[in-house]
Amino acid sequence: MVRIPWAPEYPVETPRLHLRPHRMADLDDLHLYHSDPAVVRYIPWPVRTLDETRAALESRTHQGVVFEPGQWLVLAMEVRETGRVIGEVLLKYDSETDARGELGYAMAADVAGRGYATEAARAVLGLAFDDFGLHRVIARLDARNEASARLLRRLGMRQEALFLQDEWFKDEWTDTLVFAMLEHEWRA
Ligand SMILES: CC(C)(COP(=O)(O)OP(=O)(O)OC[C@H]1O[C@@H](n2cnc3c(N)ncnc32)[C@H](O)[C@@H]1OP(=O)(O)O)[C@@H](O)C(=O)NCCC(=O)NCCS
Repeated sequence: MVRIPWAPEYPVETPRLHLRPHRMADLDDLHLYHSDPAVVRYIPWPVRTLDETRAALESRTHQGVVFEPGQWLVLAMEVRETGRVIGEVLLKYDSETDARGELGYAMAADVAGRGYATEAARAVLGLAFDDFGLHRVIARLDARNEASARLLRRLGMRQEALFLQDEWFKDEWTDTLVFAMLEHEWRA
C-alpha cells in the first residue's frame, strides 16, 4: 500500500548531496541549467528566461511533499561541500491502485560525468520503494537521450519498451524509451 503523504525527513542525505525542497534563494543556480538549450533538449521545458525560471522555482518550493496521484516530488540536488544546487530529481506519484511512480532528473552541464545524478536518483528509488511503498517505478525518455539511458541502466532499471514516433515533441516526431524497476528488483 502506498504511504502518503510523501514527506521525507529533509535533507535526504547521500554521500555527496543533500536532497531537499527548493528555496527561492536557489534561483541563480537553477537558472544556469533551466536556461541551457542542451539541458532541456530532451525534456519538456522551454529554454527559460530568468522570469520563467523564477516562476518554475516558485512552483517547486511547494513540491517537497506529495499528497495525491498526479503530483511530483521535486527535490533540489545540493552539493554538501559547496551548497550549490546542481540539479533536481523528481518522482511522480503516478497511480495509487498500481503503486506506481515515475523518475526524472535534470542537472547543470558543467557537473556532468561525476555520478551526481545517479547518486540522487538511487536515493529517490530508495524513498520510492522503502519509504513510500511503491511497487513499480518507470522512467520515460527520448530515445536519443543516451546519457539518461546509461544512468537508468547504472541504477539497474530495465528497458521495457521503445515506442516509435510516440510524441510530437519540440517540432518533430520522437521515439520514447520506457525503463522500469519493480520492488523485488530493487531489493535484489
Ligand atoms: C541525464 C543526465 C542527468 C545524466 O548526467 P550524467 O552526468 O551522465 O549522470 P551522472 O551525474 O550520474 O554521471 C554519470 C557519468 O559519470 C561517470 N562517473 C564518474 N564518477 C562517477 C561516480 N562516482 N558514480 C557514478 N558515475 C560516475 C559515469 O561513468 C557516467 O559516465 P558515462 O555515462 O559516460 O558512463 C544529464 O545528461 C542531464 O541533466 N540531461 C538533461 C536533462 C535530461 O535529459 N534529463 C533526463 C530526462 S529523461
